[in-house]
Amino acid sequence: MDINSVGIVGSGTMGLGMAQTMAQHGVNVTLVKATPGSTDKAQATLKKSLERAVSKGALREEELEGVLGRVAFTDQLDPLADCSLIVESIIEDLETKQDLFRKLCKIVPAETILATNTSTLSVTALMSVCEARARVAGLHFFNPVPLMSLAEVIHAFETSDVVVTALVNFCRRIGKEPVVVQDTTGFIVNRLLTPYILNAIRLLEQGTGTIGDIDKAMRLGASHPMGPFALADYIGLDVVNAMAQNIYEDVRQQYTATPHTLTRLVLLGYLGRKTGKGFYDYTQQPAIPNPDLARPVA
Ligand code: CAA
Repeated sequence: MDINSVGIVGSGTMGLGMAQTMAQHGVNVTLVKATPGSTDKAQATLKKSLERAVSKGALREEELEGVLGRVAFTDQLDPLADCSLIVESIIEDLETKQDLFRKLCKIVPAETILATNTSTLSVTALMSVCEARARVAGLHFFNPVPLMSLAEVIHAFETSDVVVTALVNFCRRIGKEPVVVQDTTGFIVNRLLTPYILNAIRLLEQGTGTIGDIDKAMRLGASHPMGPFALADYIGLDVVNAMAQNIYEDVRQQYTATPHTLTRLVLLGYLGRKTGKGFYDYTQQPAIPNPDLARPVA
């Protein structure tokens, strides 16, 4: 089963990162903006990231235009009819994703692989709205996609071995190292990473250490590239919150419950880097720990 052209639905951080990675490895991509509006911003973001890759020596300058030319932008699903693989990367909401899968099933042939980049939703629940189910799987990338080596290939209830093998081979072709995971909430990485971040927040709430010291401890004591608070801000606190809720829904264990501090930050719209404030305040240069979190949690 050869994967020659890929459709990606969702032009956010993950969708763009996937498109960049695939196009850098010679794959033609059709990138669908899932919400109405112009694709200009997404195109500009992709160009900026490729320019950064050039400045970092990860891409030759003369290759940039070729990579950009391999990504076609659209706000319609119909151009996906000829793709051999479609990966959805839209909002983390099961009904919205199921609705998209219903539409895709009507557009593409029964052998087209339909994959989801969901972090913590059930691939099997997405599969349930399709008639040809063997071609539905998970293909989960990590942020920032061009820099993170791993991809989780999720083998859901009725996914065929042929589809899993095709996805594993495709991951290697685009420079990713795959792991095959059964369809469990959070798969491997987020199932372990989310409670770790929640635990760090609980340590902060208990006064065990400051944001800066907890981050420093994990950077220098465990060789993590970022501490848990910097990472949570990087992922987006709304995303961390949603992952925690989905995992709690499944596991029902206290260690997966959302700490008050996370709930409050999300309620106030402090979502991390993307909003300029989260556990750190990015409006300051360099970023400083959010001063509102220096007081004890009531
Ligand atoms: N495109 C392609 N390559 C690029 C690039 C771009 N735009 N920008 C940089 N690069 C390349 C560089 O050339 C460099 O390559 P070499 O190592 O071969 O020289 C490499 O990428 C690293 O670049 P930087 O020096 O800019 O990056 P860094 O060393 O500062 O690392 C980081 C940045 C990768 C983000 C690192 O801090 C890190 O690993 N953080 C943790 C990220 C993480 O854990 N992500 C997972 C989040 S969970 C998730 O995503 C799952 C989910 O479902 C929510």
